[in-house]
Order: sequence, then C-alpha cells, then structure tokens
Amino acid sequence: MNAENPADEASLQLNADGSLRHLLTLNGLDRQLLVDLLDRAEAFLAPEGDLPVRSNALAGRTVGNLFFEPSTRTRASFDLAGKRLGADVLNLDVNTSSRKKGESILDTIYTLEAMHVDVMVVRDASAGVPAFIARNVKDFVSILNAGESDVSHPTQGLLDLLTIRQHKPDFGNLAVAIVGDIRHSRVARSAAHGLHTLGVGELRLVSPPAMAPEDGDLAFARIVDNLEDGIRDADVVMALRIQRERIGNLDGIPGIDEYFANFGVSEARLKTARPDAIVMHPGPMNRGIEIEGSVADGPQSVITQQVTNGVAVRMAVLERVAGSQELT
Ligand code: CP
Repeated sequence: MNAENPADEASLQLNADGSLRHLLTLNGLDRQLLVDLLDRAEAFLAPEGDLPVRSNALAGRTVGNLFFEPSTRTRASFDLAGKRLGADVLNLDVNTSSRKKGESILDTIYTLEAMHVDVMVVRDASAGVPAFIARNVKDFVSILNAGESDVSHPTQGLLDLLTIRQHKPDFGNLAVAIVGDIRHSRVARSAAHGLHTLGVGELRLVSPPAMAPEDGDLAFARIVDNLEDGIRDADVVMALRIQRERIGNLDGIPGIDEYFANFGVSEARLKTARPDAIVMHPGPMNRGIEIEGSVADGPQSVITQQVTNGVAVRMAVLERVAGSQELT
C-alpha cells in the first residue's frame, strides 16, 4: 500500500461543505481549520490543579482505538479524550484480534463498522493505510490517523504546534530546529507541514546526511548537517527519536555514542540556542542518545506539557469530526 497523493489525501479528509470528516494529514489542511483546532484544544485544558475538562459532546458515539504498532502517549490520550467527551471507547487488542488469524484490515474495519464504531483511530506501520480505510468506510465513520509509517502523525503535529504557540505565539518570528532522524520521522513531517502553514519564520531540519529527508515536499525547510549551526539562536529545539524500526539500510547511520556526541541535545550544545528556547521531544525518549537527561528534565523542557496537550488536542479533533453530527 502506497502513501496517497498529498492533495488527494487532503481533499479526502473533508466533507463536501469543507468541514473535517477524517484527519489523515496536516499537509494541505486549511490554516483557519488548524487554528480553530488549536483554539478548541486550549479550551479543553484545565487550569493546573483542577480536574480535567469534560463534556458530553460524544455521548452515544463510539471511538475505536486500533493500534497495529506500539504506543503509550497517543493511545492513552485518545482513550482519555474519548472518555472525557462522553464516548464509549473500544481499545482493540491487536495481539488477540482476528487480524492475527489472517483477517484483512478491511474485514476488521467492516466488523467494527457493523457494531457502529463511529470514529476509528488507526496506527499502522504501512504507508497509505489510514487513507485506504477512509475510502472504504460508510458515511457515518471518521478515520483519525494516529501514526502512519514515516509519513504522517497529524495529532502529534497539532499538539506540537499548540505547545509552541503557548510559549512563542508569533510564528513568523520563530526559528525552529527539528533535530535527528528526520528521514524516518512522521512526527517531523507533520510538525513541518503545520509550522509551514502557520507561517514559521525559519524551519531547520538538522540531521546526519543518512537521516536527512529525501522527499521534495519539505523543500520549504533548510537542511543542516551539524547541530551547532542547526540550533544556533533557535527559539524551539525539537529532538527526535531514532526510528530504528523503520531504518532499512544502516549505511551512514552513526552508532549511539557517535550520534549523541554529534546530534544529542545536551546542556552544553543547548547554550548555542536562544536563552529562552524551549526543548521538545515527542517521546518515547532515549535519554543519552537523542537528548541528555538533564535537558529533558531541565527548565527549558516542555516535554510533559506536550503530553498534557495531547489529550486536549485529541478531544478537539474528536469533537470536530463526531461531536456535531446528529445522533443516530
Ligand atoms: N509520540 C508518540 O506518538 O508516542 P507513542 O508512540 O507513545 O504514541
């Protein structure tokens, strides 16, 4: 299964009236829709110390989590987001699902559709799976991409944008450095497209040459092959995990010690970024490889805030695709 043409995928996710039906990619998503989702996510964030915000916007709806790849943050936050909106939430255990007996992905989807699962949250290692499913479901079903191969992770992109906006709202004056395994990272792609849509001043993709992007759709970013230049005077430094599960050819891929020495975001290296720079990481984090532990836990880190924002962003997306429909 191949990744869809980005323009086809962008139009597939909209209803005829331009409203959001599926969330497959941030590439090509309208700026106003992006801003509306971020604003709505802000409204779902409780003041520190308060209980989480709840609503009944999805009462009577069912959200199914179908994670065919491991996940902690995305799966848990979709689960909580659905419950906080009053939905029934089904977490399919893929290890005991009938896909293990050879059932096709579409037969699994049709089975859940027959049980009236309204929103299917899908993570899969193969490119093109979320759009393929979206093309084959009934009108009442929405598909949310929860991580698609190295292609796209749109709700991660939204939570990254929200976190940046909370600290640095003037996107046009920002220098953002995404550091690490860009080539194999769906997180980097979704963040890059979202930042581009919001008019980021400068986007730098910083990596060893063997981890630099190969696709032309990130041509708006500056490719940098050393960390010192890459994070100099940056306002935002986002470290990425090395996506070992997706690296087929190890030629040119540095070993762990070499990688940390040259591309690890360490306290010493971070001094070249702006003094008020924020440090991000999508998780799961490998301390001592892509980021020094003291940086991950340090005063510039917003990593736990990213996680908190993940629930609010997923509430905003769920409400947008399923909350406003007539109950059946
Ligand atoms: N950032 C992210 O997608 O984390 P999980 O793999 O834990 O969901």
